[in-house]
Amino acid sequence: MTILGIETSCDETAAAIIVGKDSHVDLRANIVASSLAMHIPTGGIIPENAAREQLKFILPVINQALADAGMTLEDIDAIAVTFGPGLIGSLLVGVETAKTIAYVLNKPLIPVNHMVGHIYANFINVHHKSETKLDAIRYTLDAHIAFPLLALVVSGGHTDLLLMKEHGHFQLLGGTRDDAAGEALDKIGRLIGVAYPAGPVIEQMAKSGDPNRFRFPRPLVGSPDFDYSFSGLKTAVLREVKNLGNLDAQTKKDIARGTLDAIIDVLIKKTVKAAAVHEVKSIILSGGVAANQTLRTAFEDEIAKRRMHVTFHVPPRHLCTDNAAMIASAAYFNPLEIEFNSVTANPELYFD
Ligand code: KG4
Ligand code: ZN
Repeated sequence: MTILGIETSCDETAAAIIVGKDSHVDLRANIVASSLAMHIPTGGIIPENAAREQLKFILPVINQALADAGMTLEDIDAIAVTFGPGLIGSLLVGVETAKTIAYVLNKPLIPVNHMVGHIYANFINVHHKSETKLDAIRYTLDAHIAFPLLALVVSGGHTDLLLMKEHGHFQLLGGTRDDAAGEALDKIGRLIGVAYPAGPVIEQMAKSGDPNRFRFPRPLVGSPDFDYSFSGLKTAVLREVKNLGNLDAQTKKDIARGTLDAIIDVLIKKTVKAAAVHEVKSIILSGGVAANQTLRTAFEDEIAKRRMHVTFHVPPRHLCTDNAAMIASAAYFNPLEIEFNSVTANPELYFD
């Protein structure tokens, strides 16, 4: 089954083509255009500007994906589109484009929850030209993911821990009570002069930061539930920044290190605890923050150290941040076709 995926929930305009067969999804094309550069001067995304850029990019991006795959719209069996959560204007561009294509070509339309999409980035068999050889080998070998599994989605808007007993079954075990992990990184980035999105820069800065200089709070780390909270961490960093006054370059790196260590510590401790309680066979990580190599390695090390009987999976880095391949993959494994004019953008969509 050949699926065209479309993702326009925020500042990325993305189209991808996957071919699904049995329990495999192969990636044939993956195009992502971003309006990120225009949002950097404003320190965050202005929704109206993001939506206007979506309008400019959507058709060129879809056409480029088809060209990369050597296909035409006639070769597509179904269209998958993100219908929420996200920015209403941005979502509308993708949803209405997908509806129009589905109607004109009389093809099935599969609406996909963006967060479910992130999870399904783990189920893509990667033979993509932008992968390094090492990554390609590793991720192809990792392709079999056994249920029940724990899915931890860490993105700019969400930090959610879900139990999945099979495809299409999502039991929310816990989520963030305030800021998501990515949001905390972005806000703390602003405090130390790092432009949005701060996650990738904080990752680099932290590498030469002193792990012993700042020990920031690990909110809810020992609580009996599986909820997360990162706004207290942001407040603690703010207090420290105010106390210090002028921040030299090394201090900023030390703060980056203290911040990342605190976030990683909480994410791993809670996930590992949930894995034991629910006796899962796999842990899958996803979302923009999952692109963080320090987090990826820390998860692998912790699972090995504890000799847990679980396999750990994380998508290649470029499939962790927003893309349409994950949307098409989610549609292949959850083919809930909906009559085209019943699909509406839902900015507040959650796991329900
Ligand atoms: O999933 P995503 O691309 O968009 C949302 O659905 O929110 O996630 C974006 C978030 C941003 O907060 C960004 O700072 C963070 O992911 N991020 C990272 C890294 N790359 C992106 N955080 C830490 N390390 C990274 N390498
Ligand atoms: Zn996302």
